[in-house]
This record gives sequence, structure tokens and C-alpha cells, in this order.
Amino acid sequence: MKILVTGGLGFIGSHTCVELLNANYEVVIIDNLSNSSIDVLDKIEEITSKKPKFYEIDVCDKEKVSVVFKENKIDAVIHFAGYKAVGESVSEPLKYYRNNLDSTLTLLEVMKEENCHNFVFSSSATVYGSPKELPIKEDFPLSTTNPYGTTKLMIERILADVSKADKDLSIIVLRYFNPIGAHKSGLIGEKPNGIPNNLMPYIVRVANKELPILSVFGNDYDTPDGTGVRDYIHVVDLAKGHIKALEKCVNFKGIEYYNLGTGTGYSVLDLVNTFEKVNNVEVPYKIVDRRPGDIAACYADPTKAYKELGFKAEYGIEDMCRDSYNFILKNKESHNN
Ligand code: UD1
Repeated sequence: MKILVTGGLGFIGSHTCVELLNANYEVVIIDNLSNSSIDVLDKIEEITSKKPKFYEIDVCDKEKVSVVFKENKIDAVIHFAGYKAVGESVSEPLKYYRNNLDSTLTLLEVMKEENCHNFVFSSSATVYGSPKELPIKEDFPLSTTNPYGTTKLMIERILADVSKADKDLSIIVLRYFNPIGAHKSGLIGEKPNGIPNNLMPYIVRVANKELPILSVFGNDYDTPDGTGVRDYIHVVDLAKGHIKALEKCVNFKGIEYYNLGTGTGYSVLDLVNTFEKVNNVEVPYKIVDRRPGDIAACYADPTKAYKELGFKAEYGIEDMCRDSYNFILKNKESHNN
């Protein structure tokens, strides 16, 4: 089977390409390199000894996307490409709505023209807003707290409508919890531009003395130690979830939604303490005010993905901390941007 992966050189996309190639899928990548680097293509080849076909184009460019479909008989699309910085989405909402919606609409139009019926979409637990209950199940009410999250939810709604109108389509929506970690080889991982917004990329830079101190956003939440609780999932587990989703995709028609998480919540301080222990480094931190828009706790009920996809996360929090740091140590020079 030939799989088109948009955003295939990004953090989750690159790990998914590795798992696809390991499982003997043929991979075609589209990436405009807006938040990724072309070196990742060589790293994917180094890990798998296979070279995916690569197009440096924007998914919003319909003519060019059509050419990709005409040059390759695409059986399924995994759509990662999109902007994902929550804070930036608040200050530049139009950029987010234009890019994230346009790219998805373009892909769906071209898929229809080219008779491609299988679509896996990269959604996020952010569509659950501030959940009333935990753990979070797929049928919980949906809402968002920022434009980035709203683009994810709007796309989910578009996909539901498109699925109703076209009975040939198979659509799987994957709602990711908090992906961290990196490939064991240390060749691919998360490389945010500038100062990181998310917790693990910040921790690794503090551990590596590129940033002086971690700010812990609030210790007065209603959680065991007062700091925010999240469901961190190893990016390699998450990538494997996409293989399970593809297997499901080709055997059903309609639309289905799955949480990809571990089902276990860890606090900010749990993550800091585990990171220090497994890597034998110090991560100095200070408690500061809550970050606006953050929720106290968020973790998945992973039962549906287990029952219907056979997906279960294998890696624990220690693996995640070790592999995140290993990636930074192996990429020290190129990381200081
Ligand atoms: C956010 C987004 C989510 C997105 C994810 C990955 C929302 C509400 N959340 O998740 O959709 O998929 O990023 O891009 O839209 N923290 C600190 N100090 C820091 C950074 C974070 O204490 O410097 C804390 C936060 O308060 C939170 C936890 O660490 O409790 C995790 O934060 P983060 O890694 O930014 O992820 P989320 O906000 O959960």
C-alpha cells in the first residue's frame, strides 16, 4: 500500500514514516519545511534503510498536490501538516484558520478527484476543552479554548459531513494526548523553533543548560501535587497507533474517533523528577502563576483504541524522559538555534 504522509518530516510525522516503512508500506511525503528540516529525510533513511519519496510543496497548493496523486497511486492519506502553536494561534488566528482548514479541504478535494478513500487525521485532546470528568472518553462533549484547537474541531466537523455525503470514505480521527520522547536511535525527535512552549522541550533545554530555569505554571491546581496533570505518550507508541488506524481504515466505511494516550496522568513535577532521575541531571525550576487557558488535568480512557484498533502504549514515562534527552545529546550542535 502507498501512503501519502503530509507533514512527514515533522515530529510525529517522521516517527510515523519510520513505523510505516518498517511495516513495509510505501511512503510518499509532502512537507513545506515550514517547521521541519530536510535532514530528517536522510535520518528516516538511516533508520529504516529505505528512502521515502519526497515532495517539498505546500498542501494548500491544489495543483501540486494533484500532481503528487497523479504520479503515485495513493491508497491512503495520513494528514499531519498544520500549525500547532497554541499561543501563536491566539495572536494570529487567521493564519491558523487559513492554513489548517485550507490544507485539509485541498486534500479532501484531490482525494475525491483521484478516487482515494482512506484518510487518517491528526487531531488532539484539545477538542475536549475543559473536561468535566476523567478519564476522557471519545463521546465526551467537545469544545475548545484557542484558535489552534478550534481548527482541529472544525476539521473534525468537516470530516463528519464529508463522511455522511460520501459513503465510500473511511476516515479515522486520532485525538493525541501529549506526545514526547524520541526515536531510540536519537536521529529524529522534537526540534521546536526558538523558545519551546511545551513542557518536555523546555525541560530538555534546561537540562542541557541552554535555558536557565523551568517555570512551572501553577502549583495550586486540584491535583495530587498541585501542578498540571497530563497523559504523556511516547511518540513511537503514537506513531504505531497510526499503523493500527490504517489497518482499521481499509476494513470499514464511515468515520471513527480514537484517543491515543496511555490512560495515566503525570504531573509537571512527576515529569521533572523522573527526568532528573533517569538522566542523572538537574532541572532547576521555579513555581510561577498559572498559564492562561491551561486545565488542571487531562488523561485518556484508552479502552476504545485498545478494543477496536488493538492499540496499547508500551513505553513508560522513564523511557519518554530518557529518549527525549538522548535526542538532544545526540543533536547538540544543530540544536542551538
Ligand atoms: C498543548 C495544547 C495541545 C497540544 C500540545 C502539544 C491546549 C490546551 N493544549 O498541550 O492541544 O496538542 O500542547 O503541542 O491546546 N508547563 C509548565 N511549564 C512550561 C510548559 C508547560 O509548567 O514551561 C505545564 C503546563 O501548565 C501543563 C503541562 O506542563 O500543565 C503540559 O504543558 P504542554 O506541554 O504545553 O502541553 P498542553 O498544554 O497539555
